Amino acid sequence: MTRSNVTETHFNHHDPQIMQDPYSLYTKLRSGKCPLGHSDQLGGFYFPTSYDGVKRVFSDFRTFSSAEGSGLPDQLVRLLPVDLDPPQHTRWRRVLNRFFTQEAADADRVRVQNVADTLIDDFIERGSADAVNELTRPFLAMTMLPVLGVPMEDRRMIGDKLLWMVHNRMVDHDGWVQRYGEIAEYLTAICTARRTAPRKDDLVQCLIEEEFDGRKLTDVEGYQVLLLTLFGALDSTSSAMSGSLFHLARNPADKARLTSGEVPWPVAIEEFLRFTTPITALRRTVTQPTELDGGPLEPGDFVLALNGAANRDPAKFPEPDKCIIDRDARDHMTFGSGGHVCIGRHYARVMLETCLKTMLARVPDFSVPDDFRPEYTPSEARALKTLPITFTPGRRLKAA
Ligand code: HEM
Repeated sequence: MTRSNVTETHFNHHDPQIMQDPYSLYTKLRSGKCPLGHSDQLGGFYFPTSYDGVKRVFSDFRTFSSAEGSGLPDQLVRLLPVDLDPPQHTRWRRVLNRFFTQEAADADRVRVQNVADTLIDDFIERGSADAVNELTRPFLAMTMLPVLGVPMEDRRMIGDKLLWMVHNRMVDHDGWVQRYGEIAEYLTAICTARRTAPRKDDLVQCLIEEEFDGRKLTDVEGYQVLLLTLFGALDSTSSAMSGSLFHLARNPADKARLTSGEVPWPVAIEEFLRFTTPITALRRTVTQPTELDGGPLEPGDFVLALNGAANRDPAKFPEPDKCIIDRDARDHMTFGSGGHVCIGRHYARVMLETCLKTMLARVPDFSVPDDFRPEYTPSEARALKTLPITFTPGRRLKAA
């Protein structure tokens, strides 16, 4: 086992061209002499392409640490609790988990349904829409920002800034820092207002009142958590929604199988999550000599866990490039695995299911023009930039 086994590449998840179709590269590596790839980009990093290799990176925190950061290159600020290892990370999760339970997500279904209906009302009479910019992106801003106490009039502005930050950290450093300053100031003001006028037992109140390691959080730590929650939630869930709508638009038979009940929604949702894989890459730093996917690693090496490589491994998911809505995809790696497994996954599933079900109920014949060529954002969050749909106009549920 030597480093000469490892396949050399120029892979870079921030490269817009590569991220149009990262999957063919993963396939090539998996079927070559060694499924561990190395890239000379972004300072150099290794990446496993087998399901088992990716899963191990997520699960074995003693060998693959998050404490040096989970973005590549580093996010410009530390994000909590994603950039921590146990035992600190475990303490955070114990506190934060209670806000993101299955019960909490289920209890929010009525509000989420209301968001879906309001957004669809805004375009249903027209017979056409951009499903990304008029449905899936605003859907996330309207469901997640109220949880943080952001008032209605500021949601679009804050949502737009956050989305810009998710996709432009490699493109415009100064613009990123400026928006970060504005968001930090905004979130700090929310926390300050809550200190003088406590409201309810929600995430913001918890970050103000809870003791971590025997002390209260500073404002900076508070918005490091809020920022990660928003980064984690917004474009990822929107991407799962738009990618699934795209599949359904092109596969009317699958629409019919879902509306007739032939395929249960929870089964299809897992396959949509596997197939769309909105979060593409998370970094870990090697702490001790080890072997991964047939290649040797040394302390200090960077490893990128590619969720999409795991999700398209044919040894785990036969015919992985097909979206087969009744397959059992529950083991997908879309939410990661191990201690950092996505804390918002129950919410994401509720939002995704509500969005798709409501579209099929209210706009059943939506389709995408034949000449539409999908274009994806690069970076950690891979998402359709637009999704033009046309359909038979329908009626609003509420007055304009
Ligand atoms: C389809 C939508 C989503 C996808 C694909 C996704 C993906 C992920 C992944 C892969 C991780 C693991 C990070 C790591 O191992 O370093 C993660 C963590 C996280 N996600 Fe999500 N996520 C989604 C939705 C959400 C939502 C809706 C929220 C908030 C309500 C959220 C908040 C978080 C947070 C706070 C973490 C950090 C957990 C920790 O470090 O312990 N995510 N997510």
